[in-house]
Order: sequence, then structure tokens, then C-alpha cells
Amino acid sequence: MSSTSLSRSNALSGPPLNAAALRDDKKAHLLLAASGSVATIKIPLIIEALSKHRNLSIRLVLTSSAAAFLAGQSAEQPSLEAIASLPNLDGIYLDEDEWKEPWVRGNNILHIELRRWADLLVVAPLSANSLAKMVNGLCDNLLLSTIRAWDTTGTTILRPRKKTIVVAPAMNTAMWNHPITTKQMALLEGDWNVRNNGWVEVLRPIEKRIACGDTGSGGMKEWKEIVVVIEERLELRSG
Ligand SMILES: Cc1cc2nc3c(=O)[nH]c(=O)nc-3n(C[C@H](O)[C@H](O)[C@H](O)COP(=O)(O)O)c2cc1C
Repeated sequence: MSSTSLSRSNALSGPPLNAAALRDDKKAHLLLAASGSVATIKIPLIIEALSKHRNLSIRLVLTSSAAAFLAGQSAEQPSLEAIASLPNLDGIYLDEDEWKEPWVRGNNILHIELRRWADLLVVAPLSANSLAKMVNGLCDNLLLSTIRAWDTTGTTILRPRKKTIVVAPAMNTAMWNHPITTKQMALLEGDWNVRNNGWVEVLRPIEKRIACGDTGSGGMKEWKEIVVVIEERLELRSG
């Protein structure tokens, strides 16, 4: 972990997150996340579209691959510093933020605080890699630790209820058509699904010509439709 990445993540994530202190802020808490797919470039559009909701607080978690898509390299790929100034966005978290300060007893643990803080987690896009990790219980970065620590029973103390993880897979058509994807999706759309009293909602990919040139399924659901899903799940009203 370089000192450059540390100082950058410090600036973007703000003071240590304390979910209990924010429990009664009268805002809906959206934990938005992206993993390493080209569709990560839709994240700024999603946040901007939600800016009309004054009672919304957004915190953004990026895997290291996702962060590479948002480094200010084009107009549609603003830097994290620029994204940090968007309305309603109260923190951007990278893997380094878990280890910002050497942990001692009594300190909060970021992935647990994020899970406690969130009313809804939306992973858009969910990469093939993060999908595989999610269904296998791997937790080797901030996003996957948050997903792994999700309260699937809804029995923890803060805001006690079962909370949903919405995922929008996005990947190359051949990756999507691979038999391992079918197996992994069967879990998310089966036992773990909200329809079956689980905690996961899947926004299936759509067919289109995707950024790498292939045509077929695997493209992330249209970002405007993801915004509508967020507004409905958090019961947001304009203003
Ligand atoms: C330019 C580029 C575009 C990529 N697009 C995708 C994609 O759309 N979907 C996907 O699953 N992986 C894509 N990948 C591969 C992932 O970034 C890679 O598997 C990475 O390990 C994902 O890590 P993460 O899940 O921790 O974010 C892409 C890689 C590159 C270099």
C-alpha cells in the first residue's frame, strides 16, 4: 500500500464511519458499489441521477479494478476526486481504507460499519470475478468483505431487518454464456433470492453490442433502470 494511495483514500472517505452515529439522520442510506467491468463508467451517471433526492446519503465502494475505470482518463470517466463532489455522496471507499489506521481494540471495522450503515447495497456492475467470489463466500477485499458480512438473517442491532443486496452482473458475452455463470446465478436467483425470503435481487444483463465488440447478453442493465430500482427499493420521492 503506497503512501499516495493512502492519502488519496483518506481524502475521499472522510472521517472513520460510525454507523450508530448516523442511524437517526433521517436519510436513506445507499451503499453503491462497482467491480471491474467497463460498466463502472455508469456510476457517476447513477449518482448524478439520484442527486434530486435530498433525503439520500450515498457511500461508494470500489474494487481496485473498478477504480481503474474512474481515473479521469475521459469525459465519461471522471476522477474519484471529481466524483467525490457529486451531491449526496458522503464517502468513497477503496480497499486501503480498511487499513487506514492500525487497528486496535475499540476501533470500528469498516466493512462491518458499511453493512450496518446501509439500507440497501447495490453492486452495479458485478463483474464475473466478484460474482464468483460472492457465491463462494470469498472476502479478500472491502466489497467482498461487506457482502460476506451481510446480515442474511436480519438480526443485528442497528436497523434490525433483512436488507437486500441488488446486483447487476456485467461481463463479456462469452463469460456470461459460460456454464459456471449459470451455476452461480442459480444460487443468486434461487436460495439467496428475495423471492425465496433471501437477500439478493438480480438485475439480469441485457443483450447489446458490448464495449469489447461482441454482441449478445452480458451488458449491464441500463443505468436509468437501475436508478428506478434504487428509488423504488429505498422508497425515494423527488425533492
Ligand atoms: C478494460 C477491461 C474491461 C473489463 N471488463 C470486464 C467486464 O465488463 N466484466 C467483467 O466481469 N470483467 C471485466 N474485466 C476483467 C475484470 O476487471 C477482472 O476480472 C478483475 O479481476 C475484476 O476484479 P474485481 O471483481 O475485483 O473488480 C475487464 C478488464 C479490463 C482490463
